[in-house]
Amino acid sequence: MKPKILMARAIFPEVIAKLAQHFEVTSNQEDVLWTQPELIAQLAGKQGVFTTGGERIDATLLAACPDLKICANMTVGYNNFDLDAMSAAGVLATNAPDVLTETTADLGFALLMATARRMAEGEHFLRAGLWTRWRYDMFIGADVHGATLGILGMGRIGQAIARRGAHGFGMKVIYHNRTRLDAGAEADCKACYVSKEELLRTADHLVLVLPYSASSHHAIGAAELAQMKPTATLVNIARGGIVDDAALALALRNKVISAAGLDVFEGEPKVHPDLLTVPNVVLTPHIGSATLPTRLAMAHLAADNLIGYLIHEKPLTPLNPGITLRRQSAEV
Ligand code: DGY
Repeated sequence: MKPKILMARAIFPEVIAKLAQHFEVTSNQEDVLWTQPELIAQLAGKQGVFTTGGERIDATLLAACPDLKICANMTVGYNNFDLDAMSAAGVLATNAPDVLTETTADLGFALLMATARRMAEGEHFLRAGLWTRWRYDMFIGADVHGATLGILGMGRIGQAIARRGAHGFGMKVIYHNRTRLDAGAEADCKACYVSKEELLRTADHLVLVLPYSASSHHAIGAAELAQMKPTATLVNIARGGIVDDAALALALRNKVISAAGLDVFEGEPKVHPDLLTVPNVVLTPHIGSATLPTRLAMAHLAADNLIGYLIHEKPLTPLNPGITLRRQSAEV
């Protein structure tokens, strides 16, 4: 009998077809947004679940789903997983690193440029029929080339953004991270390690690429924004909750910083109403990894993790591999 798995959200039909070769698949192509009790009900008798980063997997769900062995996120971020609870329950967690690095860095850089050069403001002005003549001071923005690029969170995506800035735009790159990169990686990105205070104080364009956790909640709030240059821009492509969106909206309105570009929001898909009314912010709906080849690669990696673990006992990108070893040795 094939193991049973659940697709928590709609996904590429070709990925479902691949999984169906190995599993009895319950899909959700209607893309119903299940509440946690509904998700628990759907998970009855399932050994695996394909998740898309928004489904909360915590102790309550794990206790109610004794057959569950693996939750495979198609995203690299896994703040929807309570990893400690999963490890304690012997449930494997996997994510999808690497495959989205360059695509997400592209979006980060695109947002940086759109923000610095006021592209959304200019477009709204044009679409509203307000463009009647060229003026020397119309939509004056900030230079990107040669400016100081600050990066908070220097993982794979942070480094990919740093390379774009340093090698493509001649930017001076500074970063802050929990751990400093080794000399080779710093040289590759032409990046200098600085304190968070110096980063805030000296960056012309600050990009946030750190993972969300209790310790990074509101890592950028009113106090941090006040330390930034009034001409600086801020880009968040990491996770909602890292920025205090209410404080940011106020800072943008009061020109504490010049502009922001946001792809992620606290409580998304809801967006703080004040962000919708300030002009100097570019808003995109969490599309950092949204290109066809990348989303396919992410979905295939999650599928391969399900197949790898439940069929071959070899997941590709486990987050709590100690669990894998314990489970495998218990089954031998
Ligand atoms: C991720 O993988 O965490 C991205 O945010 C999804 O777009």
